[in-house]
Amino acid sequence: MFESLKPVAGDPILGLMAAFRADNRDHKIDLGVGVYQDDSGRTPVMKSVKLAEAKLMELENTKAYQGIAGDAGYNQLMMALLFGADHSILNSDRLVTLQAPGGSGSLRVGAEVVQRARPDAKLWVGVPTWPNHIPLMGSAGFEIEEYPYYDKTTHSINIDAMMETLNQVPAGDVVLLHGCCHNPTGADLQPEHWDQIADIALERGFIPFIDIAYQGLGQGLDADAYGLRMMADRLPELLVASSCSKNFGLYRERTGSITLVAESAEQAKIVSAQSMSIARQIYSMPPAHGALLVSLILGDDQLRANWQAELEEVRLRIKSMRTLLTDGINDNAAGMDFSHIKQQQGMFSFLGITSDQLNRLRDEFAIYIVGSTRVNLAGINSNNIDYLTQSIRTVLDS
Ligand SMILES: Cc1ncc(COP(=O)(O)O)c(C=O)c1O
Repeated sequence: MFESLKPVAGDPILGLMAAFRADNRDHKIDLGVGVYQDDSGRTPVMKSVKLAEAKLMELENTKAYQGIAGDAGYNQLMMALLFGADHSILNSDRLVTLQAPGGSGSLRVGAEVVQRARPDAKLWVGVPTWPNHIPLMGSAGFEIEEYPYYDKTTHSINIDAMMETLNQVPAGDVVLLHGCCHNPTGADLQPEHWDQIADIALERGFIPFIDIAYQGLGQGLDADAYGLRMMADRLPELLVASSCSKNFGLYRERTGSITLVAESAEQAKIVSAQSMSIARQIYSMPPAHGALLVSLILGDDQLRANWQAELEEVRLRIKSMRTLLTDGINDNAAGMDFSHIKQQQGMFSFLGITSDQLNRLRDEFAIYIVGSTRVNLAGINSNNIDYLTQSIRTVLDS
């Protein structure tokens, strides 16, 4: 049987990670892989997570199956984190939230629900988007359409072209949007853009599906949720997939949530049952550990304050690396302007250099960056910043 399987093309990021691991040069720098690293280059367990784990060790008295929708307390707390504790949607009975395995599992459950509701719906994704959006959601059955997003020449969102395309999206289609900290470009929609998209969605009748995998890493927990909070206020239907991988550092615990906003409480009941039936078909029930930790943190004033302080440290560290990188490479002899990096949000930005320059950085300087020139700003630290900026300037200047 298996002889009929064809080899699968390797994921370029995994290939880059393997090449980085095999590189023996001491000064090597990995700006490829998409995880947060602190100033010592580690991806630590947050202290608030460690405290929650100690508490969980004491409190946990069963490993029996959870419900299909996961931990009810977690779902409530996630709704409040996403929408804000005072958002009227929380008391509306139109909201359904299920714990799901990471942002990826959440996106997939949402995609499957849409497919059941409307098998002909197309999914509109920005160019570019997180590359895994396409296989992850496309294999749920979506035909994928594209809208223009990032303009590589201006290093910013091509708002006019984006809105022009969104103005042609048919009713009932689904438009995928990044809640904040756009991966891979770092170019985020501003509140006025979100408002404009909501206007078009209302007029055209398409349904926004917001992927928020970095809440708190851009401008802060509340500002990063502007788009989804406003849309929950204004639109009849909405989907929101969230991830706790980055903002709680729970990458391997597979902790996320899918929220579906229905037009009425009656529809929400059906959406809830359908979502659970989909989860049951795919994985039965989500892994418990990460969500229990998040519940303990968000449900305890002190732990929550600790977590928010740690998250703020993460956010500010990334921001300061953006400034140091921009300032360190802007005075290059080639006259290239990298100011966009300082202005953008989240873990990623495009460097915007040529593939020859990218290869030289890897071969001559042991600096690993993915082919799109997306850099993970969190891979930069006080030990490697000078070497990094000197190397980039050398490659630009010669
Ligand atoms: C935009 C975006 N969405 C979703 C995810 C998936 O997150 P998770 O690791 O929680 O599945 C990622 C992870 O890198 C991401 O960048």
